[in-house]
Amino acid sequence: MQRPHARSRLNHKSDMDHTRPGQRSSLPVKSKCKPTKKSILLIIIGSIAIALLIFFVCYMFLLSGRNHRRVSLRYSVVIDGGSSGTRVHVFGYRIESGNPVFDFSEGEGYASMKLSPGLSSYADDPEGASVSVKELVEFAKGRVPKGELKESEIRLMATAGMRLLELIVQERILEVARRVLRSSGFKFRDESASVISGSDEGIYAWVVANHALGSLGGDPLQTTGIVELGGASTQVTFVSSEHVPSEFLRTVSYGNVSYRIYSHSFLNLGQDAAHEKLWESLNNLAANSTGEVIVTDPCTPKGYIVDKNSTGEGIVLPEESKFTDSLQAAGNFSKCRSAAFTILQEGKDKCHYKHCSIGASFTPKLQGSFLATENFFHTSKFFGLREKDWLSEMIVAGESFCGDDWSKLKVKHPTFNDENLLRYCFSSAYIISMLHDSLGVALDDQRVEFASTAGEKDIPLDWALGAFILNTATTTSDSSGKSRKILLE
Ligand SMILES: *[C@@H]1O[C@H](CO)[C@@H](O)[C@H](O)[C@H]1NC(C)=O
Ligand SMILES: *[C@@H]1O[C@H](CO)[C@@H](O)[C@H](O)[C@H]1NC(C)=O
Ligand SMILES: *[C@@H]1O[C@H](CO)[C@@H](O)[C@H](O)[C@H]1NC(C)=O
Ligand SMILES: *[C@@H]1O[C@H](CO)[C@@H](O)[C@H](O)[C@H]1NC(C)=O
Repeated sequence: MQRPHARSRLNHKSDMDHTRPGQRSSLPVKSKCKPTKKSILLIIIGSIAIALLIFFVCYMFLLSGRNHRRVSLRYSVVIDGGSSGTRVHVFGYRIESGNPVFDFSEGEGYASMKLSPGLSSYADDPEGASVSVKELVEFAKGRVPKGELKESEIRLMATAGMRLLELIVQERILEVARRVLRSSGFKFRDESASVISGSDEGIYAWVVANHALGSLGGDPLQTTGIVELGGASTQVTFVSSEHVPSEFLRTVSYGNVSYRIYSHSFLNLGQDAAHEKLWESLNNLAANSTGEVIVTDPCTPKGYIVDKNSTGEGIVLPEESKFTDSLQAAGNFSKCRSAAFTILQEGKDKCHYKHCSIGASFTPKLQGSFLATENFFHTSKFFGLREKDWLSEMIVAGESFCGDDWSKLKVKHPTFNDENLLRYCFSSAYIISMLHDSLGVALDDQRVEFASTAGEKDIPLDWALGAFILNTATTTSDSSGKSRKILLE
């Protein structure tokens, strides 16, 4: 904090030293002229000097103003350890009358970078995780002034990919990351590197959405809920006026408003995890089937030849699987939708709540408006759906895609690799099965929109931004008494 001041003062001094000799040397030269001209010249030189002085004062004022603003920027770093990659987010923010002011457009206020694969892929070689964590830390250090490092917090929050690993393996990978973070120069505590729960993730996504929409701090029933279709897990988060069992209930306090939020993460029901589950069960069926029985895969367009060696990113078939001639690609949207529904309803017989929409977990009736993010967004964009009526359009698009011939689809979408292109049949069916068949969203319901950003400033709907917002608002309210306060319970 002191260094920039010291440096700018030095600069100003040397500026003055440069100007003074120039002025002095000009006076003696002009003093050789006649008395009348001399006085006129003196006036001219005097006014030039005054003009220069005013200019200089203004310049210094602007300079100090800019320095002042730069000094008051604070920084915070969040590393998101996701299942497909690790992303570092570097946030710069100002404090204005005790409140943090964020700027999430790329630039001084925000920068991010992602490295693949994710931390969870280092299960067999935890030490290997250090390389990517180091690279992400270096990226962050390049965006935070050296003098601010010690004051800037760095945290690592890992999600579903890591959640699926054994605790002892999680801890080994985290310990490697902690070692890097401890020596990073940033402010870091060991407990700031952790695997966060799915409902934390949901709450953070809810916070960034409602911050972006300006509804944080207002009427709880005017807030916007989040349904998030990730790769490994799915989150549902919204304010419900129904009675919510405590294991699904979270409270976020903002100012004098307390939000009681239903938040649940359906682990293994993300799009890739569910697709994998389907392949596994079909594969078992096919392997078990004897003789003439042919098992069909309704979620793979016909004509697709399964490459037994590579089953695709995120789709890992059991070893020695006999994904053979007895399993046939036979894309059919409505059959795929039923298969997806079976996966979503698995375990429902063990539901011991008033009602369960997905599996054996409680979900209140959806209320208010929602943003559907991640794969809900990606698949809608892929099919070019309009925001209005996107769910009914999704059915039409899915029927056409699933029922099409693989060779024709390849021609229509030349830029996609097989694995990515293949997922859209299952995705469209899974989305309808989840939102409409399971959660009961009407096909013409205008209150559920797909989105990747929100608000006038198009703030990315990334949970890491919400984690930063919650953390920053909480810590700044600690230091300056009367500012708004957000608490997460
Ligand atoms: C508390 O909330 C109400 C609106 O719900 C608002 O009018 C009031 O100013 C708030 N009080 C404080 C101290 O923030
Ligand atoms: C089918 O195969 C799976 C795994 O390969 C096995 O667990 C299951 O018992 C088999 N079912 C039948 C009916 O053979
Ligand atoms: C799969 O792998 C085996 C052995 O690694 C190889 O012989 C075979 O050609 C591969 N098949 C395809 C379709 O790539
Ligand atoms: C898809 O399967 C359903 C039965 O689930 C069947 O009625 C329909 O005709 C099939 N569609 C096509 C195009 O084969």
